[in-house]
Amino acid sequence: MRCIAESVPAPYLLRAGSEPPPPGGSLRPFVPSDLPRVMEIVAEALREHYEPALYLSLSRQWPEGFLVAVDPDGAVVGFLLGVTQVEREGRILMFAVDRGHRTRGIGARLMTAFLDRCRERGLARTTLEVRVSNATALRFYTRFRYSVVDLLRGYYSDGENGYQMARDLP
Ligand SMILES: CC(C)(COP(=O)(O)OP(=O)(O)OC[C@H]1O[C@@H](n2cnc3c(N)ncnc32)[C@H](O)[C@@H]1OP(=O)(O)O)[C@@H](O)C(=O)NCCC(=O)NCCS
Repeated sequence: MRCIAESVPAPYLLRAGSEPPPPGGSLRPFVPSDLPRVMEIVAEALREHYEPALYLSLSRQWPEGFLVAVDPDGAVVGFLLGVTQVEREGRILMFAVDRGHRTRGIGARLMTAFLDRCRERGLARTTLEVRVSNATALRFYTRFRYSVVDLLRGYYSDGENGYQMARDLP
């Protein structure tokens, strides 16, 4: 992992880590040292485990699309990992806020910043997948003007159906 982390371009690491977070917490791009905490949040909130190499590879593909929220002490309390696999489209691959930090607007800040990054990149649309049972996330995404565009039968590893949601970017 050390070798992979060191291959991240130096300007990116400097920009992401050079300033202390302002009071109240802040958002910044992911850096490899965030990985243990991000994986902890994924395990708790999304009940998934992915190899570290996956996160590192995705973060190199679109560094601005992988955002973390940090508390005033600099601890990671949430993240949003976006990718661009389809032309002019951004896809949210993972998105979660630490349980003890939810309903304080952190998710909204992450989503707002992600939509800004998509616009800056000239993307026309963003998509995501969500469990049909995840009422909290469905409400959250609807508030951000995402609409259900497809039912994905048996999409999740435990057999649960998913919704694909999308929103156009003005
Ligand atoms: C979905 C998720 C990321 C939202 O993160 P969050 O930080 O709680 O999001 P916010 O605080 O911005 O918004 C959540 C709710 O709290 C409310 N809220 C935000 N700040 C608030 C405040 N200061 N006081 C009271 N309520 C507040 C919002 O209005 C929102 O309510 P609504 O969605 O019913 O409109 C989070 O619930 C989560 O991590 N869930 C588990 C993982 C998950 O399901 N991820 C999505 C998979 S597709």
